[in-house]
Amino acid sequence: MKNWTADRLPILTGTTVVITGATGGIGLITARELARAGATVVLAARDVDKAHRAIASLPGDVTVRRLDVADLDSVRAFADAYPGRIDVLINNAGVMDIPAARTPQGLDVQTATNYFGPFLLTTLLLPRITGRVVTVGSQLHRFGRLDLDDLDWRTRRYNGLAVYEASKLAVVLFSLELQRRLDEAGSTVRSIVAHPGIARTGLVAHSPLGFINRVPFLVQDAEHGALPLLYAATQDVPGNAYVGPDGLFGFTGYPLVRKPSRAAQDPAVARRLWQATAALTGA
Ligand SMILES: NC(=O)c1ccc[n+]([C@@H]2O[C@H](COP(=O)([O-])OP(=O)(O)OC[C@H]3O[C@@H](n4cnc5c(N)ncnc54)[C@H](OP(=O)(O)O)[C@@H]3O)[C@@H](O)[C@H]2O)c1
Repeated sequence: MKNWTADRLPILTGTTVVITGATGGIGLITARELARAGATVVLAARDVDKAHRAIASLPGDVTVRRLDVADLDSVRAFADAYPGRIDVLINNAGVMDIPAARTPQGLDVQTATNYFGPFLLTTLLLPRITGRVVTVGSQLHRFGRLDLDDLDWRTRRYNGLAVYEASKLAVVLFSLELQRRLDEAGSTVRSIVAHPGIARTGLVAHSPLGFINRVPFLVQDAEHGALPLLYAATQDVPGNAYVGPDGLFGFTGYPLVRKPSRAAQDPAVARRLWQATAALTGA
C-alpha cells in the first residue's frame, strides 16, 4: 500500500503488544499509535520512572513493566513474571556506537542490548506469542561483519560503530532463523524485521555520526521512523519480511517490504549464529 500512514491502522482492541525501550524515540511513537488504535500496550523499560513520565500523555491502555534488555537476569525476570498472552512483541530497545562496557553477565553492552537480550527475551516469551515478533533492524546491518567465534567482542578491537553494524546484521539473521524454526514447528507466528531508515531521535547522541540528525534530506522525523514498525506489527506482510522506508537507500519515506543484504539472507550462517547465541545467553 503506497504512502501508508498510522491513520490506516486497523482497530486493535483486544490485541496486546509488548514493546521494549519505548521511553522515547520511535518506540514511544509506536506505542502511542498502537494505543490510539485500541491495543493494550506494555512498555518494557529499564527506567520505570522515565517510562511512566513518557506514557503520562498517551491515550488508551498503556502500562509499564521493568526490563533492562541488556541484563540477561532482568530479561529472565521479565519473562518469568509476564502474565498472559502477547499478540505482538516489538524488540525496539537499542543503543548505537556507545563506549565499550560490560553487562552484569560480562557481555558487551551494545551487543547485549541490540541482540543478545532480544534473542533471549523472544525465545523465553515465544510460548506466549500468538501473532508476530517484530525486531528493529537498521540499514547499517549492510556494513556488519560477524565473527561467530567472537560474537561478544572479546578478541576483536572494540569499535562502537562496527559493533552496532554487527549487532544489527545479527538481528536480521536471527529473524530469518526464527521464522525457519516457526515454520518447521507449524506455527503461524511471523518474525519480521522493521527499520526506521534514518530518524531524528536520541540514538546518535553518543556517536560522531550525531551530525546526521542535522542533514535534512537524509533524515526523517521520528513520526515517519515509527511507520515501518507499525506497518510490520499490523499489516499483511509475510514472515521474514524486511520492512523499511521506500525512499532512496531506504533512509526516508513510507513503509515498504524490501530486501536486506545478501549476508543477512544466508540460512547456514543464521543457523550457526542461533546456536552460538543460544550457548552465550543460555537460552
Ligand atoms: N533513529 C534511527 O535513525 C534508527 C535507525 C536504525 C535503527 N534504529 C533502531 O531503532 C530502535 C529505537 O531507537 P531510537 O532511534 O528510537 O533511539 P532512542 O530515542 O535512543 O530510543 C532508544 C530506546 O531504547 C531504550 N533502551 C536502551 N537500552 C535499553 C536497555 N538496556 N533496556 C531497555 N531499554 C533500553 C532507551 O531507553 P532509556 O530511555 O532508558 O535510554 C530508549 O527508550 C533501536 O533499536 C535502534 O537501533 C534507529
